[in-house]
Amino acid sequence: MSTAKSSHPSLIPHDDIHGYLQTAISLARRAGNLIHQLRYPAQAKELDIETKQGSADLVTNADIASQSLIFSALRELYPNHKFIGEEDSVKSQLTNQPTWIVDAIDGTTNFVHGLESCVSVGFVVDRKPVAGAIYNPSRREMFHAAQGRGAFMNDLPIAVKKCDTLQSALVLTEWGYIRDPHAVRKMISANERLIIANVRGIRQLGAGALDLCYVAMGRADAVYCGVAGEGWHPWDFAAGVIIAREAGASITKLDGSPFDLEVRSMACATSNILPQLLQVVNAE
Ligand code: IPD
Repeated sequence: MSTAKSSHPSLIPHDDIHGYLQTAISLARRAGNLIHQLRYPAQAKELDIETKQGSADLVTNADIASQSLIFSALRELYPNHKFIGEEDSVKSQLTNQPTWIVDAIDGTTNFVHGLESCVSVGFVVDRKPVAGAIYNPSRREMFHAAQGRGAFMNDLPIAVKKCDTLQSALVLTEWGYIRDPHAVRKMISANERLIIANVRGIRQLGAGALDLCYVAMGRADAVYCGVAGEGWHPWDFAAGVIIAREAGASITKLDGSPFDLEVRSMACATSNILPQLLQVVNAE
């Protein structure tokens, strides 16, 4: 497999994009199977669980094993690429260089409690997602997409569901790890406004990368984050954003301006309900 010959996504040869996508799929599946084995068999050892920036922000031995499996394979395949992982002790800055952005377990709290989580492997060039794969081992669901090639779940094409009004929308959001009372009140107020606007439902599923996949395949109609600065990181977004976009979703920052991987706020929805969602969420 060759490395990217240009730092601009539109100039990457198609065969190379195909190769990057296959790598992302294969590593997301291998790492997903690994974390599943570490968590579920009766004979599995107790997980080693540590906290990071607060008691709600967890890391386990499975996160570390998953990231190490993925990065050792990627470093061997693409020694000239850059790598960013949630569990890096020192985080690299995102540049225009070809970069793999990995969440070894997205939804670590869910994982610890036996709920759904996933492995997310995204490939980014010029700071833009080019290919990505997200694997949820408990449902055996593999989501993947590459620029201009559509989005898929278990190799079948997926697309966002038609949804015209908030009243018929299931909206996802995530509370995240922020515990500052003012910020928490802002998040609750945004949800309160949505409920008063008679949204069909709001869910907090606990894994941002899966939220994007669920909008992409029509299980949900929208997802938003970052109302109070509690938003996601590039590893939560990198693979999911290309999967959602290729499935037909529109994505902006919460203020409606163009989304990029380094922002902390995002709204992703079908184009019909995105403006309605932004209006209600931002109407303080
Ligand atoms: C977290 C999950 C959560 C979101 C957090 C993320 P992690 O990822 O996606 O739903 O609210 O902002 O950091 O820590 O479980 O990989």
